[in-house]
Amino acid sequence: MKIKMAALSHMLYTIILLYLCAIPIESRHRERDRKKHREPSSLASQQHHIIESKVMPINLCSKQRDMKLMCHCTPDNNDNGKAHKAECWIFRSDLSIRDPDWTAFHTQTQLQSLVFSVHGSGNLSFIPTSVIQPLKHLEKLTIEYAQIHEIFGFAFGNFTRIHNISLPNNQIRVISAYAFANHMELQELNICRNEIYEIDPFAFINLPNLSRLNLERNRIEMLHEDTFENLDKLSELSLSHNIIDVITRETFKGIGNLWILKLDNNKLRYLGDNMFSELWSLIELDLGHNVIEIITGRAFDGLNNLKRLKLDYNRMKSLEPGTFAPTPALTYLNLMRNSLESITMITIQPLMNNLVNHTSMMLIKDNDFICDCRLAWIYDLRNLTKNFELRYSLEEVECRKPREEKPSLDVGYENVLKQQNDYSDDESNDDEKVNLLTLQKRELPCPQEYREQFEHPSTREFIGFDLSWIRSSATKICSQSLWILILALVSHSYCTLTAYLR
Ligand SMILES: *[C@@H]1O[C@H](CO)[C@@H](O)[C@H](O)[C@H]1NC(C)=O
Ligand SMILES: *[C@@H]1O[C@H](CO)[C@@H](O)[C@H](O)[C@H]1NC(C)=O
Ligand SMILES: *[C@@H]1O[C@H](CO)[C@@H](O)[C@H](O)[C@H]1NC(C)=O
Ligand SMILES: *[C@@H]1O[C@H](CO)[C@@H](O)[C@H](O)[C@H]1NC(C)=O
Ligand SMILES: *[C@@H]1O[C@H](CO)[C@@H](O)[C@H](O)[C@H]1NC(C)=O
Repeated sequence: MKIKMAALSHMLYTIILLYLCAIPIESRHRERDRKKHREPSSLASQQHHIIESKVMPINLCSKQRDMKLMCHCTPDNNDNGKAHKAECWIFRSDLSIRDPDWTAFHTQTQLQSLVFSVHGSGNLSFIPTSVIQPLKHLEKLTIEYAQIHEIFGFAFGNFTRIHNISLPNNQIRVISAYAFANHMELQELNICRNEIYEIDPFAFINLPNLSRLNLERNRIEMLHEDTFENLDKLSELSLSHNIIDVITRETFKGIGNLWILKLDNNKLRYLGDNMFSELWSLIELDLGHNVIEIITGRAFDGLNNLKRLKLDYNRMKSLEPGTFAPTPALTYLNLMRNSLESITMITIQPLMNNLVNHTSMMLIKDNDFICDCRLAWIYDLRNLTKNFELRYSLEEVECRKPREEKPSLDVGYENVLKQQNDYSDDESNDDEKVNLLTLQKRELPCPQEYREQFEHPSTREFIGFDLSWIRSSATKICSQSLWILILALVSHSYCTLTAYLR
């Protein structure tokens, strides 16, 4: 046995010696080989490490069992420090920030893509900054399923060349000042599916190339003013699935190049004047699945380029007549699942030109529409649109017959009826709902207060040229000034008369 072992080790020794001698010859061959593969002398650099740290770091890609990090490298089986991609799993809970296993990264300095994925009872409670900073070629970093509660300043190094940082599912709660700072080439930052409730106003500093920022599925209730200031290249911002209840104009200060803003699935209740007016490049705005009850008449001011607007699953009962006047480019509008009693011609007028185009879409079903002449424009749009889907969606619009004003003499009797049959009221309401377009347009009830806007516009005038409401208000103003003139004349002549009489 002993003899066998000795023979074996002798053989190994010879092989290693032969190998060491062969290397210089082989590399000279390669040099001549028109420098197809430029390899730095890995042996020399490893020897350098041995001299430096006394303990030779284990190669990151060697898959040694006793390592606290298990990494799979691409190219595989790579022990000359040239892997460009590493996916590392952390299964153990005792990987501290000072663990010697981190030095394994000294053996792979060419990494471009690095993933840390924590599994089972594994525990990673910090961003391994000292690992990231020296990786001069690192472009993409992912950390997932870790337990990192706070991201401190310069966690991803200072002036690294990173392009893409992805941090989903890490229980992150706080993003401190300068957490993401001085990454000149960072284009995409994804911090979705965490527990973020606080973002320092100085969290995102000097990120001149950041174009996509994903903060979906966190616990953000409030955003500080200026949080996104100076993110000049930001084109897509997602804040979906948070608990944001208030936003102001200042929230979005300094991101005038934003194209897409997602604020769906939050707790917004009210949209005030000029709220989005910093976002003059915006093309798509998603405000669906909030609890919006009120949109003021000038809430969308400044959104001249907006093409897609989603307001579905909210609680709006009515829309101000001027709501869509500032958004003449809209070609997609979703108002489904609100409590709208009507959408008037004047409200929808600024969009009529666009809506007849075959690429345009409007979704308005599942509201509390009342069947009356305020909805007459739907008949015209149905006939004019070239989009089959839009026509179909309009044909699905339901409304209920206007309630008759009942004389309330028999209140007592009605109450008795109600108590007897709790659900009868709701049921009868549902029964009243009919498909609007099955009714005849000219048979729609039209109380005096709606009559004016219904009677004026002919079909032709619907398509953008109807100014009757301006005309009628102009007439009002004219007649008022006439009265004032007459009054003034009368009072003037009265004064002159009394003066004369004296
Ligand atoms: C993870 O490690 C940190 C610090 O090392 C510790 O505070 C925390 O309790 C650990 N968490 C788990 C789940 O083991
Ligand atoms: C970041 O780098 C710059 C320039 O190298 C340096 O002036 C600054 O002090 C660094 N900041 C930190 C926190 O390391
Ligand atoms: C960043 O990484 C994500 C996830 O892997 C990927 O979908 C995205 O395209 C990347 N973005 C850039 C700019 O490389
Ligand atoms: C920003 O990204 C573009 C590619 O989208 C790149 O060409 C440019 O060099 C980057 N700018 C900086 C300052 O890194
Ligand atoms: C219809 O929409 C398309 C694309 O949005 C546009 O190119 C076209 O000019 C529009 N047509 C009319 C008649 O507005």
